[in-house]
Amino acid sequence: MSRESKQHKNDPQYKEAKNQGYRARSAFKLFEIQRRFNLFKRAFYILDIGSAPGSWLQVSKKMAEENLEKYNDSYYHRDHYKILGIDTKKISPIEHVETIKMDITDPSSKQVILKHFNGKKLDLILSDASINKSGNKFSDQARQVHLCEKILAFSELLKENGTMLIKVFQGADFDKFFHRMKRRFFTVRSYKPQASNKKSNEIYLIGLKKR
Ligand SMILES: C[S@@+](CC[C@H](N)C(=O)[O-])C[C@H]1O[C@@H](n2cnc3c(N)ncnc32)[C@H](O)[C@@H]1O
Repeated sequence: MSRESKQHKNDPQYKEAKNQGYRARSAFKLFEIQRRFNLFKRAFYILDIGSAPGSWLQVSKKMAEENLEKYNDSYYHRDHYKILGIDTKKISPIEHVETIKMDITDPSSKQVILKHFNGKKLDLILSDASINKSGNKFSDQARQVHLCEKILAFSELLKENGTMLIKVFQGADFDKFFHRMKRRFFTVRSYKPQASNKKSNEIYLIGLKKR
């Protein structure tokens, strides 16, 4: 086992995630973001990009199941949920959640997603997708922003007022990307969860109310 992987496995948050049945400590980041921004409010159709090993899918399923009970009114209710996870890596099955092994930048991905949701608009898009880091902060940041730009294009699949969460890296191109997001959402917030490694330059952008 590599030193990095040993450190990871000894991490108290990783152990806590495992104790609670989550596949990764990232689950805690999403719970924190949820507490702050209530992303999952009335979210039944959810797309999760960069989902392996699957802890955000587990959280999404929990929240969507709670929503079926919670929002059982005439305003905006669906009697079922649909969650799709996409990753270049294989994701072990999660009951009632669909996963596809695919690169989100593949030109066919939009059609695949549309087909899965029967052409219906989505309530929420999550992306925790990260490039494979080379160690060069400058080029890694630029590559991550480039990936985020491709992912942002999927916001067209959201319903009006839909929500999007994207992981970005702080650095030179961050402001430019923030403004791109502002063009698509009425409100954009940035947030670094406590559960995110302090040394990492990752930060999350939350797009609320799609234009
Ligand atoms: C930090 S992990 C996601 C962890 C996940 N949110 C969880 O809670 O289990 C980032 C993932 O992004 C995926 N990824 C990176 N680029 C991608 C791409 N172009 N298409 C699909 N997945 C991608 C990686 O394979 C990796 O599994």
